[in-house]
Amino acid sequence: MMRDNAQKELSVDGIARYLPADFKLEKIQVYEVIGSTNTEAKRQAVKGASYGTILVANAQTAGRGRVGRNFYSPRDGGVYFSIILRPALLRETTVLMTVAASVAVADAIEAVCGVYPKIKWVNDLYYQEKKVCGILAELVSNPHTGTPDAVVIGVGINCNAEFPEELMEIAGNIPPVEDAKNRLAAELSLRLSKLEEMISCGKFLPKYRENSMVLGKWITLLQEPGSLYYVRGIGERGELMIEDKNGMVRSLTTGEISIRLATAD
Ligand code: BTN
Repeated sequence: MMRDNAQKELSVDGIARYLPADFKLEKIQVYEVIGSTNTEAKRQAVKGASYGTILVANAQTAGRGRVGRNFYSPRDGGVYFSIILRPALLRETTVLMTVAASVAVADAIEAVCGVYPKIKWVNDLYYQEKKVCGILAELVSNPHTGTPDAVVIGVGINCNAEFPEELMEIAGNIPPVEDAKNRLAAELSLRLSKLEEMISCGKFLPKYRENSMVLGKWITLLQEPGSLYYVRGIGERGELMIEDKNGMVRSLTTGEISIRLATAD
């Protein structure tokens, strides 16, 4: 049964309505249900899929998040999107890419819903204090050389999800908008295909800092239970500069670290 606020069906034609006429629609694959768009994108990347190949799904049965977590991806509950990029300066740009992707995705949400999410380092997006979007960037190695030659950027945006009890406190939806899923998929396609250009023009870092929900706050590193750090800044390469209670400053550069807001007392 359709819910009153059900989003229109996700389809290539539906997405095309919001794309410029010259966008290569053959780059876009839409799945009703898939295990994980990132896993499938990585499989296709290994087989040589071209720059800008896009996979979008209505539901995932094995959606993956950072640090080995699951990503809740119920049918009609959101947009589950992955894109294959093959940046020229892969090693140099990977960390910055995850940071730039947060801004590109937040811009996409703003373009569709009119609200700008807050960014929790590295790349979780929050609206009204709840996580509405997660981003997972994964390197793909060339099977012949063993060196990375592609990156898959996966984005999950909750649009209309009903969450199980254990997620209700922490997960939320973006505001409801007519045909949100096709519109979001189009905005993500446009913005993430141009991620390298966004990185080279360098304007995303001020926006990232401006919308950060951790800058100037106390945090705990989940990998160091009981730890307490003050977030001093976000560096030119997207690294988090944190200071402990003794004034020792260190930089976090890896997305394999998770943080939680804390209070100093
Ligand atoms: C996180 O919150 O830790 C990242 C979540 C990333 C979820 C997206 S949904 C589309 C793509 N496919 C996946 O399996 N994961 C990403």
